[in-house]
Amino acid sequence: MTPSDVKATLSFSDGSPQMELPLYKGTIGPDVIDIRKLYAQTGKFTYDPGFLSTASCNSTITYIDGDKGELLYRGYPIEQLAVNCDYLETCYLLLYGELPTPSQKEEFVSRVTNHTMVNEQMQFFLRGFRRDAHPMAVMTGLVGALSAFYHDSTDINNPEHREIAAIRLIAKMPTLVAMAYKYTIGQPYIYPKNDLSYAGNFMRMMFATPCEEYKPNDVLVRAMDRIFTLHADHEQNASTSTVRLCGSSGTNPFAAIAAGVACLWGPAHGGANEACLNMLNDIQQMGGVAKIGDFIKQVKDKSSNVKLMGFGHRVYKNYDPRAKLMRETCHEVLGELGLHDDPLFKLAMELEKIALEDEYFVARKLYPNVDFYSGIVQRAIGIPVPLFTAIFALARTVGWIAQLNEMIGDPEYKIGRPRQLFVGATKRDVKPIAQR
Ligand code: ACO
Repeated sequence: MTPSDVKATLSFSDGSPQMELPLYKGTIGPDVIDIRKLYAQTGKFTYDPGFLSTASCNSTITYIDGDKGELLYRGYPIEQLAVNCDYLETCYLLLYGELPTPSQKEEFVSRVTNHTMVNEQMQFFLRGFRRDAHPMAVMTGLVGALSAFYHDSTDINNPEHREIAAIRLIAKMPTLVAMAYKYTIGQPYIYPKNDLSYAGNFMRMMFATPCEEYKPNDVLVRAMDRIFTLHADHEQNASTSTVRLCGSSGTNPFAAIAAGVACLWGPAHGGANEACLNMLNDIQQMGGVAKIGDFIKQVKDKSSNVKLMGFGHRVYKNYDPRAKLMRETCHEVLGELGLHDDPLFKLAMELEKIALEDEYFVARKLYPNVDFYSGIVQRAIGIPVPLFTAIFALARTVGWIAQLNEMIGDPEYKIGRPRQLFVGATKRDVKPIAQR
């Protein structure tokens, strides 16, 4: 961290001594005020629920400029990565800081592909779930259970363990997601096939059956790979912060990533793509494009609790750059499958147009986020709606690991332990039950 020449001074109206606070400069983005000594020197905490103004760490991995609508992985714009690199190159970049050379890529791909199978015993564990369990419930369980199957890579303080756990997680997530899917539809699991690409292998594990070989379609495989790349990391979002906080206790990497999966499940975060598609389906059933006006009215009515899913973002106050790329992929996939007249896609485009012109959304800087179009793409590929968030988890695993490893490797890292403003009862005596 580079100290700034500027210092902040904190003063109090009650005459308490003022305090000088150092500032640090990042390479880009806002400076931060270092408040680490605040409590020791003033006996006061800061109050920032939801971390609206708090940087919880310093990081070199992902940078977002929400006003510009810019997303950089290790300095590279997402638009360039999505077009010029595949997902495993992006994984290498996120994990090790640089794009791989051809030989580094070959070696990395070979390492990942070597770990695509899961311990055979895991299928018996999976069988304990109800067939109608939500895939994210299953994934939270399966990923957490990896720590029970891979004892030799659970020491978070051992860099070799962290490395092997990282490769295992990236390699096994597609296998686990596909297994969870096959289980719900009562089909046999399909083992990975290591001569396919990462995305191609995933699609084969999802859609092949023992009696019918699946021939991956290049356009759809590319779309799936792009979905993975666009979701690979997104700096200190809720699930990533969860992984960091969970990992800060020294727990094993599989347990920390399982915590990330659990957090991602929520509809305000990774569950939004599922919620968005369900919303489009609901509007379609209400009467489609003709009913957009009524729906928007409901969204603007604060008492309705209805949100336009796939719109708005804590950081982006402009068009999410991933949404633009996803919109492009959406056109490509629907074109390839002859679905350009898909009513949900038409509905989404119309909804987007109307919302972008509406004063409510304009004033609040609410733009489409990546989830607005990713659901339509996944549905066209044949992914069932409840599996969307599991695919997001698959893709985000590399970001979680990169962030977790960055934290553990930081000599200044400490267990995460926020404080609170206590507003409950002060000390009081327990009365015997008969007197209460
Ligand atoms: N529809 C309608 N109104 C919205 C929406 C929306 N999608 N998003 C925000 N608003 C409104 C809020 O009601 C609030 O209005 P107010 O100022 O009149 O009270 C204002 O815009 C600011 O919104 P906040 O909730 O304060 O913004 P916050 O940063 O806390 O929330 C969030 C961001 C959770 C993403 C929110 O926009 C949302 O719920 N969007 C829908 C769910 C979604 O698409 N999530 C995906 C996020 S991207 C991802 O995880 C990959």
